[in-house]
Amino acid sequence: MAKLTYYGHSTCALVTDDGTRLVIDPFFDDNPACHVAAADVEADYVLVSHGHGDHFSDCIPIARRTGATVISSFEVVSFCRENGVKNGHGMNVGGGYDFPFGRVKLTPAVHTGSVAGDQQGAHASGCTGFLIEFNGKRVYYAGDTALTMDLTLLKGQVDIALLPIGDNFTMGPDDAVRAVEMIEPKVIIPIHYNTWPVIAQDPQVFKAKVGDRAVVEVLESGSSYEF
Ligand code: NI
Ligand code: MN
Repeated sequence: MAKLTYYGHSTCALVTDDGTRLVIDPFFDDNPACHVAAADVEADYVLVSHGHGDHFSDCIPIARRTGATVISSFEVVSFCRENGVKNGHGMNVGGGYDFPFGRVKLTPAVHTGSVAGDQQGAHASGCTGFLIEFNGKRVYYAGDTALTMDLTLLKGQVDIALLPIGDNFTMGPDDAVRAVEMIEPKVIIPIHYNTWPVIAQDPQVFKAKVGDRAVVEVLESGSSYEF
């Protein structure tokens, strides 16, 4: 079994069947929806979709303390290395790589992407998503994307999709339903909502809108989905 734990906003931990611990978009200490401290997080890999603080703020402390390998865009990984992170694996959109636990491919995400803490702005990067494949399971983490026709390329390749529904900074619930129609995942876990009033959404309304197109698993912060 694999286990995905949601920590509110877009922060997740994925433990693969072989026990490898992946943390995705670590935003623990300043995340109003999260009750876990970054200092208590263990990881073998940290995946970062982009450098905005609500996806990246605890990446460097966790990677420095645990020795976890940061998987992200070349620019974000370079910034991490310049700030004391020993292990990093830079990638770019459209590229995949076979890690010991499985394959990670960076997918396009329509969004902006400065790097929090980069005073010179020398590491500006876009935003990506991740297609993570291990043990015959396929997880798509969309990142902060808008609805885009690129999502149709994922059709038939995704079992579990983590999609933003918050609106304002990302796609909202109605566009997320269209994303579901494009991707046709079996299971959807909504993310990037209710962290602040500006992205307040009722996930049960989203679930009703998805209807019988897919199973919507609404996870409370700190709860897990096993698959
Ligand atoms: Ni962002
Ligand atoms: Mn965000």
